[in-house]
Amino acid sequence: MNIEVLRAFSVVILCISSYIYAQGMKQNSPPHIVMIVADDLGSNDLSYRGFNQITTPNLDAMGFNGIILNRHYTEAICTPSRAALLTGQYPIRIGMQGEPLKAGEDRHLPSDVQTLPQLLKERGYDTYLVGKWHLGPARRDDTPTRKGFDYHYGYWNGYVGYFDHEIPVPISPSISYNGYDMKENFKDAWIDKGKYATHLFTEKALDVIDQQNIDTPMFLMITHLAAHTGKDGLVEGYDEQEMNNTYSYVEDLQRRRYLDAVRHLDDSVGKIVEKLQQRNMLQNSVVVFMADNGAQINGRFKNAGSNFPLRGEKFSHHEGGIRNAAVIYSPLLEKRNYVHDELIHITDWFPTLYSLAGYAGRYKLLNGTIQSGFFDTFSPEPTSLKQMDYDVAAILNSPVNKAIEESKSNPVMLDETLITGLRKYSSALRQFPKCMNKPENPEICKKYCLFDLWIDPCETENLINDRSKAKIVSTLKTRLQTFWRQVSPQTNKNVDVNSNPAKYNGTWCTWLDDELCVKTRINADY
Ligand SMILES: *[C@@H]1O[C@H](CO)[C@@H](O)[C@H](O)[C@H]1NC(C)=O
Ligand SMILES: *[C@@H]1O[C@H](CO)[C@@H](O)[C@H](O)[C@H]1NC(C)=O
Ligand SMILES: *[C@@H]1O[C@H](CO)[C@@H](O)[C@H](O)[C@H]1NC(C)=O
Repeated sequence: MNIEVLRAFSVVILCISSYIYAQGMKQNSPPHIVMIVADDLGSNDLSYRGFNQITTPNLDAMGFNGIILNRHYTEAICTPSRAALLTGQYPIRIGMQGEPLKAGEDRHLPSDVQTLPQLLKERGYDTYLVGKWHLGPARRDDTPTRKGFDYHYGYWNGYVGYFDHEIPVPISPSISYNGYDMKENFKDAWIDKGKYATHLFTEKALDVIDQQNIDTPMFLMITHLAAHTGKDGLVEGYDEQEMNNTYSYVEDLQRRRYLDAVRHLDDSVGKIVEKLQQRNMLQNSVVVFMADNGAQINGRFKNAGSNFPLRGEKFSHHEGGIRNAAVIYSPLLEKRNYVHDELIHITDWFPTLYSLAGYAGRYKLLNGTIQSGFFDTFSPEPTSLKQMDYDVAAILNSPVNKAIEESKSNPVMLDETLITGLRKYSSALRQFPKCMNKPENPEICKKYCLFDLWIDPCETENLINDRSKAKIVSTLKTRLQTFWRQVSPQTNKNVDVNSNPAKYNGTWCTWLDDELCVKTRINADY
């Protein structure tokens, strides 16, 4: 009987955790999402982190106007970091851990793992990747446009020369394969050979934004070559003469080239944000910038970056490899202009950004009901009840509020505006159209029911037969089955007749430890 009750009443809600992530955002229509990823950027090499060798005005402005993510953790290497970012999974769960993927290596994201752009695309986003992929190029199905991106301009492997866009891979001490790696979807972009990579990607990204229908949500990911080393293990300066002049105070030539790459990267961020504003998209955009891992300080691909004062570098699990630069700006963020000190991991972006699309955590699957739906009706409308005016003064003068005020522990004190605003927000459910027009006799959920809690929090409309929701239904059913496998048998029992207080001087006692209980005595004389 009890097992049956449990079986009949099972609920799954998709991605509760991501739903919580989204709570810091005001929700309008799904926002445009622009994610900019730098390659092998040292966590010290941005001026908002206190670094004074160059100024990175655009990234600083993004962080100071938005949020500086001070404990943003990534994986220590390119391929694992990008796998984590695009799948929301730890690389160890999908075989993408370890060494970066080599050109000519047959490795790819598992086909049953959904990528962020795939999910966003299903939800109506246009999805674009400009720049590096590095998650498998052996067959077409492994590449960006078969993994969720509508469009890709860039390279499939780990890096390319800044101008010649070639990548060599050593096969033996004396043999190395070398090839051109700059594509527009599947087409080799020979026409762009010789163009400085950062400028090329910026141009393509600006084209994407220019051509975007601004009423359709856009997911644009820009994965720069900068500040990774290029073809010969060197970062290449854009205009070395100008670079030499600009950084005449920097002795080391490699460091000069690295700074030049960072400067062009920062400029690119400036152009992207400027373009979003020109197209009137910024007001509904989320712009994220991050480094994929720390700078490489030693070894073949050392780029002259700095992770100061942290220990370690790319490949290392000391902080210098994994605690990296990241900032977020969005006018939709309710709280801005601060340094966020809590831990964020690169896998967190997947559920966070997906929930911003307004769709995760949204659906609820019910499987049956209990007692034929006896408990599934609506509470009656309170309109017939006599109501009074909301007494703001009573809240302000309440002992709780007074005590909190007196403790001076809250930075903000309540006032009428704040109370009215918060109350309106927390009672918003009442205003939902579907809640205001509830059916008299709602359908009892005898078998499966699917509700869209986002637009129908009052569960008035069962969407289980809506064909466009078939995929969500099957995902939730699978999840429910997973829960079933984890269910321990219910331990509920019937009332034990020996527990009757009549036996224990009219009290509830620990009847199985009967000897410690006061027993009822017939005709007792206490
Ligand atoms: C830049 O400076 C380096 C020396 O630090 C020099 O070798 C190089 O030729 C200079 N490049 C140009 C284009 O002036
Ligand atoms: C739904 O409930 C029925 C009846 O208890 C059960 O057989 C079925 O496995 C449940 N479905 C899922 C997805 O758990
Ligand atoms: C038994 O219950 C009576 C009240 O009905 C109470 O006065 C009495 O103290 C109780 N006896 C003991 C031993 O607790």
